[in-house]
Amino acid sequence: MLKSNKKLLSLILLTTLIINVNNLWAQQSKIALEGNQLLNYETQVDSLLRLMTLEEKVKMIHASSSFTSGGVKRLGIPELVMSDGPHGVRMEHGRDWNFDDTTEDSATYLPTGITLASTWNKKLGFEYGTVLGSEAANRNKDIILGPGVNIIRTPLNGRNFEYLSEDPFLSGKMAAGYIKGVQSQGVATCVKHYDANNQETLRGKINAVVSETALQEIYLPAFRYAVEEGNVYTIMTAYNKVNGEYCSNNEYLFKVLHEQFGFKGASVSDWGAVHSTLPTLKHGVDIEMGTELSSGTRQNPNYNNFFLADPVIKLVKKHPEYEKYVDEKVKRILRVMYAVHLFDGKRPKGSRNTDAHHKTALKVAEEGIVLLKNDNILPLNKDIKTIAVIGDNATAKHAGQGGSSQVKALYEITPLEAVKKQFGTKVNILYARGYEPNKEGKGSEKLTKEALEVAKKADLVIYIGGWLHNLPDAMWGKYRYDSEGRDKQSYEFPFEQSKLMNKLSAIKPMITIIFGGSFGQYDKWIDDSKAILFVGYPGMEGGTAIAEILAGSVNPSGKLTFSIAKKLNDYPAHHIGEFPGNKKDVVYKDEIFTGYRYFDNEKSGLLYPFGFGLSYTTFKYGEIKTDKKKYSTNEIVKLNVSVTNTGNFDGADVIQIYIRRKNTNSAKPIKALKGFEKVYLKKGETKTVTFQLDKDAFMSWNKISKNWVTEPGDYYVIVARSANEIIKKIKITIK
Ligand code: GLC
Repeated sequence: MLKSNKKLLSLILLTTLIINVNNLWAQQSKIALEGNQLLNYETQVDSLLRLMTLEEKVKMIHASSSFTSGGVKRLGIPELVMSDGPHGVRMEHGRDWNFDDTTEDSATYLPTGITLASTWNKKLGFEYGTVLGSEAANRNKDIILGPGVNIIRTPLNGRNFEYLSEDPFLSGKMAAGYIKGVQSQGVATCVKHYDANNQETLRGKINAVVSETALQEIYLPAFRYAVEEGNVYTIMTAYNKVNGEYCSNNEYLFKVLHEQFGFKGASVSDWGAVHSTLPTLKHGVDIEMGTELSSGTRQNPNYNNFFLADPVIKLVKKHPEYEKYVDEKVKRILRVMYAVHLFDGKRPKGSRNTDAHHKTALKVAEEGIVLLKNDNILPLNKDIKTIAVIGDNATAKHAGQGGSSQVKALYEITPLEAVKKQFGTKVNILYARGYEPNKEGKGSEKLTKEALEVAKKADLVIYIGGWLHNLPDAMWGKYRYDSEGRDKQSYEFPFEQSKLMNKLSAIKPMITIIFGGSFGQYDKWIDDSKAILFVGYPGMEGGTAIAEILAGSVNPSGKLTFSIAKKLNDYPAHHIGEFPGNKKDVVYKDEIFTGYRYFDNEKSGLLYPFGFGLSYTTFKYGEIKTDKKKYSTNEIVKLNVSVTNTGNFDGADVIQIYIRRKNTNSAKPIKALKGFEKVYLKKGETKTVTFQLDKDAFMSWNKISKNWVTEPGDYYVIVARSANEIIKKIKITIK
């Protein structure tokens, strides 16, 4: 064969090979991108399990360091490496609880859960997860300990900022996208905290007394979606008890998890959340993390003392029949190890702090900021001469605070920096702090006086305040607000901000920007403010997003994921429920009436409804119809909704679909969110969105038969823009 032909042939072969390799890689990365299913490796799992001794198996079901669980060197099984947190990879922990400052461990500080969920954009949830997963892979983490999906039951819960919503459907759907995004990068997620961890007060021992209907309708579904839709690889059990049993060995919760949800991954306890050996072995968590903490020793705990360590070996030696429980746990753990490529080395390398990652952080902030009020003052008009920016949150940084979800952000753009950059060349920007976070929680005469002086010199005030995680030097101290381990002590905005806001909004047109995991007590400034924005904790590019929205280069499209009431006692958990309980039990007397499920009947105390958020443009809803009027239980209800952008800005609205039974003979919520779609429309553009409502949309928990059923009868399919803004109700019958 001629030399040239040979060369040509080898070139063709090489190209084919490259294409094949690419295809293979594409396939691999496609598999990786889709997230390997947990059951793809059963043969390998079983054969590896057969090789292990009891001692080796037990090593895998408890911690081997502060953030790892045991491996088996002899068999090439590595430790599982875990890291917080839900909105960015936490600083490097060594094998003890001391931060390891020897590595460059800065990360992308994404907007926290409450701001992500406020985007109501499932696709963006996936992108968010992809960033988090890529950065976790880059930091060699096998499991990222998030998302947090606990239901927002009270505005006082210190960790609302990490969570998503008062509604389980919204929480579950947003979590599913996030989970698929992270796992597409070959890293496991760990949906948490399972379950009914809706307060931080006495979290280590409080017993949540929750009816089965409330559990099934409100507190479990977000985890179900994480399993069924997200294919979540691990789940974290909460510190508290549910109906008398600690979550980490709660027979009911684990029956639901493994049998009702069909979860095939592994469960990990919260740190120090295991309290028994045999109950945990038989119907509890697979991996015990951090329990040595209960003896108060964080440094160099003796991991053999863990409940799922030597005590298990002793127990099995006496009762060999218990070894099957160890095997089941190790099997689930090995599935996760295979799924995150610990044995085939195919996990994508990941990257960290890339422009693309920071752009995603910005996009989530832009879409997650909620415009609650706008008396034609936003976007700011060009001929403003002087702006007074007032408030500590104009310059505060939040990334490194709040507890275990802390992140060492590569940078954090503050609102003041961004406003100066956005407007500074044409507008004179003044600043006054207005208040200073302090242990007494009080306002400051001096700072108030100074703020009023500055305000008087300006055309308008931009007030940037609200909540914070904790006083700078007290991440775990007493003075915490939006933080782990403690609930807010009041619904009043701290440091007497309302007094200051009332004074400022009385003398100048004021735009109010609120940071936080919740809103706060109603006061006069809410009526007097010309505009109000709720930003949650918008991450490292949050300042930029705020400035873009003020300038109008971004049209806000965020929607509230929780109802905002005027005062604390207007909330169901406080009005009909119980919070924080009597030190032993907290009884969920509010039952299934959380959030809008309660406010639909009790509108008087409501300030802003679930699903509410304004835009700079307007939307007109056109034809809304179902494909027919009568359905059998398993039939899909097809619903078409057309909407037009009738204003002067490109923008996005969120079509919300609620389902309500026409006549209910039991105490059921009068409606429940069962569909939503964010629709982007250029000025004048019309789109029709088709919803496919499956049987899940019409099912409810039947407490007699103890299962989910679709009761035959008449239903309303409700198309809305918020829990309170109903566009159209269509009656259908399910036979
Ligand atoms: C904490 C938190 C949990 C976190 C874990 C590890 O106590 O409750 O969310 O992932 O411990 O830091």
